[in-house]
Amino acid sequence: HPGDTERGEIIFKKCRSCHQVGDGAKNRVGPHLNGLFQRRAGSVEDFRYSKDMVRSGADGLFWDHDTLDIYLENPKSLISRTRMNFRGLKDAQDRADVMAYLRQYSDD
Ligand code: HEM
Repeated sequence: HPGDTERGEIIFKKCRSCHQVGDGAKNRVGPHLNGLFQRRAGSVEDFRYSKDMVRSGADGLFWDHDTLDIYLENPKSLISRTRMNFRGLKDAQDRADVMAYLRQYSDD
């Protein structure tokens, strides 16, 4: 099913302890998530990423529906030593909904 942005906003409460998105979003424990879709992994200025995240971006990892789906299900399955200490969203609809919510803050 396509993602539901309103449900995604509720799911995003699990992310808000570390991430901001929207007007005035700043880097916190994690990078801000504005413009996430089609952003190169590990590319927000002034955020200190793990070496693995920076390397993944340099190797060509971009965030889109498919790559986010894998990372959000189990971050360490995609980037083994990512600093994102989050167990992941095991439910595919939860991931689709949070992606639909975040997509509102990307241009495409
Ligand atoms: C990185 C999304 C929960 C901390 C990222 C990235 C995404 C993301 C897409 C990569 C960003 C980039 O390359 O610029 C999410 C979503 C979450 C979530 C949608 C909720 C479902 C959390 C939580 C924490 C956290 C709860 C803190 C406990 C971080 C950190 C990074 C990161 C530290 C940088 C990782 C690294 O450099 O390896 N997150 N995140 N995230 N996130 Fe999250």
